[in-house]
Amino acid sequence: MSARLASSSAPPALAAAAAVAVVRLDLSDFRCYREARLDIDPRPVVLAGSTTLAHGAALPILLSASDVVLHDRQVHHSVQTALAALGPRGPRCVALPHSDLDALETAVRDALAKGARRVWYLADGIYSMFGDRLPVAGLVALMQRYDALHAYIDDAHGMSWCGSRGAGSVIDAGLPVERTVIVSSLSKGFGCAGGVIAVPDALTKQRIENLGPSLMFSIQLPPPMLGAVCASARLHLEDELSVMQRELWGRLGLVRKLLRESPALSTRLPIASDEPSPVQYLVLGDAEQAIAATQRLIARGLLVNPVAFPAVPLRRGGVRFTIVRSHTDADVRRLVSALAAVVAEVCERPALSP
Ligand SMILES: Cc1ncc(COP(=O)(O)O)c(C=O)c1O
Repeated sequence: MSARLASSSAPPALAAAAAVAVVRLDLSDFRCYREARLDIDPRPVVLAGSTTLAHGAALPILLSASDVVLHDRQVHHSVQTALAALGPRGPRCVALPHSDLDALETAVRDALAKGARRVWYLADGIYSMFGDRLPVAGLVALMQRYDALHAYIDDAHGMSWCGSRGAGSVIDAGLPVERTVIVSSLSKGFGCAGGVIAVPDALTKQRIENLGPSLMFSIQLPPPMLGAVCASARLHLEDELSVMQRELWGRLGLVRKLLRESPALSTRLPIASDEPSPVQYLVLGDAEQAIAATQRLIARGLLVNPVAFPAVPLRRGGVRFTIVRSHTDADVRRLVSALAAVVAEVCERPALSP
């Protein structure tokens, strides 16, 4: 599998576009900068050097000191870092239990009762460790009930493999456009590098582009990467994208089914939902077990990541892995049987209950 991964990196169109962008770089024209400003209809888009830099540009502009910020306890670290950087001039921030919309509603009511005019909920579309998804239908219902509730969603892991034109895991859910900001990655499913901020209107875009602290100085996406971004964006507009999405969903469904069917592995899945997710995770225990399992799997040619506290709670360390479209069903079966063998080798204790 690792040899295949090495040979199936960027689609040729992306590599060629990056090269062309270098050759035609003309600073008096900024042509590739204009071309890359493709909107996620109807939302205008701001490009950033990474998702982390996107948060660093967007949050200081979007949030006022008089807002109340409610964030999921597990919202990505890059969001929490950007919030912390606001310091004493920033809004009051409250961490909420993970994916608990009842707790969110209680906190929204509390904030409104204390006079807040605008309340933000910050969450991930797909959580990057366990791969679980935002309960987005419930969030839409809450936003319909509370006009003051705004959503800021980090959907880095939702990009490309799902949603209309690959625009992510929350784009089709019906979140109110005028009260929702979606931030995503161009470095994962999109196949390039960078971050993207989809905002409600042109004025917000202009404010973030011109005033966002992390977009100042010379940290824009470099032209070769913009060339690749344009080429990938064009691929997203082709009908073939939905064929590619369905192929990947087939593999994601297969890995989930095999994990569920395996007596050694099914008790180690941290989430109950079988909704497709690009991030798969098995709970093994502590950091030593996560590292030992990863080393054994890599020795078998299977690339997985070890994960341990503080990225996940104590004793819920484990291995995290992703399935890509170029994997075959045979690859997926080989991975799951190797996981079962290695887990038996490194884990003497039974799995913790979720
Ligand atoms: C959910 C999420 N948000 C943000 C980031 C940071 O992305 P970047 O490396 O583009 O800054 C990651 C990184 O993996 C992520 O998983």
